Amino acid sequence: MAKVDCDLSVSTVPTAPIAGQKPGTSGLRKKTKEFMSENYLANFVQSVFNTLIEMKTPVQGGTLVVSGDGRFWNPEAIQIIIKMAFAAGVSRVWCGTGGLLSTPALSAVIRARGKGFESFGGFICSASHNPGGINDDYGIKYNCENGGPSPEKMTDLMVEWTAKIAEYKICDKIPDLDLSKPITYDLGDGKSVEVFDCVEDHLAVLKTCFDFDSIRGLISHPDFSMTYDCMSGVQGPYAIKIVEGELGAAAGSCKNAVPLPDFGGPESAWHGHADPNLTYAVELVRDMGLNKEGLPIASDKPIPKFGAAADGDADRNMILSSQFFVSPSDSLAMIVANSDLIPQFKDGLKGCARSMPTSGALDIVAKKKGIECFEVPTGWKFFGNLMDSGTHYFPDKKTYTPFICGEESFGTGADHVREKDGMWAVLAWLQILAKKTEKSGKLVTCEDVANEHWKEYGRNYYARYDYEGVDKAKAEEMMKMMSDKAGSLAGQEVGGMKMKTNDIFEYVDPVDGSVSKNQGIRYIFEDGSRIIFRLSGTGVAGATVRLYLEKYEAADGSLNQHQFEVVKPLAAIALELSQLQSYTGRETEHILN
Ligand code: G6P
Ligand code: ZN
Repeated sequence: MAKVDCDLSVSTVPTAPIAGQKPGTSGLRKKTKEFMSENYLANFVQSVFNTLIEMKTPVQGGTLVVSGDGRFWNPEAIQIIIKMAFAAGVSRVWCGTGGLLSTPALSAVIRARGKGFESFGGFICSASHNPGGINDDYGIKYNCENGGPSPEKMTDLMVEWTAKIAEYKICDKIPDLDLSKPITYDLGDGKSVEVFDCVEDHLAVLKTCFDFDSIRGLISHPDFSMTYDCMSGVQGPYAIKIVEGELGAAAGSCKNAVPLPDFGGPESAWHGHADPNLTYAVELVRDMGLNKEGLPIASDKPIPKFGAAADGDADRNMILSSQFFVSPSDSLAMIVANSDLIPQFKDGLKGCARSMPTSGALDIVAKKKGIECFEVPTGWKFFGNLMDSGTHYFPDKKTYTPFICGEESFGTGADHVREKDGMWAVLAWLQILAKKTEKSGKLVTCEDVANEHWKEYGRNYYARYDYEGVDKAKAEEMMKMMSDKAGSLAGQEVGGMKMKTNDIFEYVDPVDGSVSKNQGIRYIFEDGSRIIFRLSGTGVAGATVRLYLEKYEAADGSLNQHQFEVVKPLAAIALELSQLQSYTGRETEHILN
């Protein structure tokens, strides 16, 4: 314990509301300079504390976690939040070393660290996969006592506070603290800041989920090799300690494993977009012998048998094997299909879920296995209630845990934390490969698992088209046009295909009854094909139109075509239905997965 002599007096600083402080799909995200401008951060943080106090959260005397993904301005923001936390009455602040905690690790810390004086919640300083830097993006998100993102009723209250805030409180005489190594600072008056190894809590939770010995066996298999691209985000220390340290992967298996404030910036192959997909994870995709469309290319180097990447805050994942891409929707379905090989689910899986635009591959597995399956709006927070059902949060409701869920946007996870978890997804795949390899005697790859899967369940060919930086008003007009027509196309023939339903997705949470309207426009055809439109909720400027395309091919059909080719005819229909080109002026899209 290091004693810090300091003045804990609270300063009350007058302020005025700042327009636009409204959290989106995943927290408040803005340009870094906007966040750095005068009271921007303080206004939002105070609005969160005011909300917590209004909701009777035990802020007074409580423990708060504050850390982030290592992006530009995090060190300064974390010091400000620490000083405001003490002014709000918090007794203990917990930080990962270097102010680093991946999003799933922060969730694990909230849920599992310090029995007896657990944390009531935490701030994650991250804009996820969005580039970091003074001219790029910044973000902040508040997670609750269950370790999950704030529910909508809470973010609504935060927004109300941002619109009426008149002052904020800060213990501005506390000096900036060195967060670079584990230490506990005693600030006096029962107040402390504890800095702890950023990996330890997450690792402890992951050890309860997987059989590390068996994964170690796979990794030491003479035919196995792997690469894990951390894209200069926060995953580096986790990957080095877990994959190379605990599991024995060769030194150097974890690439770009030093967190950088700009995730490598414009000079990096991914131009600072630490986003694990075929477009941005350029180095990994090339090393795995693929082009950016996921097609095999010649390689003059040996291609690893397993490849993975993580985003800036390490909640996302991409999974590959040599010259083979596992789409996120398939990854989810395949993990569920093989969940009996993962110790976390040894007593059986009770529930699973996907976001609405994620392909229906999961539903087919769940149906065959007799597991309850949910379709929720985009955004991890919607999975939280399902995971908390039957616990002390909703004791009178049926339980759906153990539970696995995921999204097309490269998010996969389970109920061990309340965030998607990039490391968990990697370990889940390694665990499945390990058990299958043990059984068959020869190395089993992700491609083998996928081929086996499609032969049993059929294949949901899938692609997402993104139209980024579109004029917001025009995008909204286009969505309104389709919403106004919703329902009218059901039963009609469009582009040679019969439409079964056409609606606006709305979700009624089965656990707390809350309703989320307007969650995307769906065109669903008789053969199960789907066209979905929605506007992204994570953008920082303008609007991003997302178009999701899906076509099902039965198990006895043609299973080895290229996904982009298969969905192309659907794309043509989608452009006609939306009149996208005339609304947005866009001729070309950016194909994501
Ligand atoms: C974040 C959320 C995800 C969500 C994704 C895409 O990563 O945590 O749950 O799927 O953003 O959101 P968007 O609104 O941009 O499609
Ligand atoms: Zn992320």
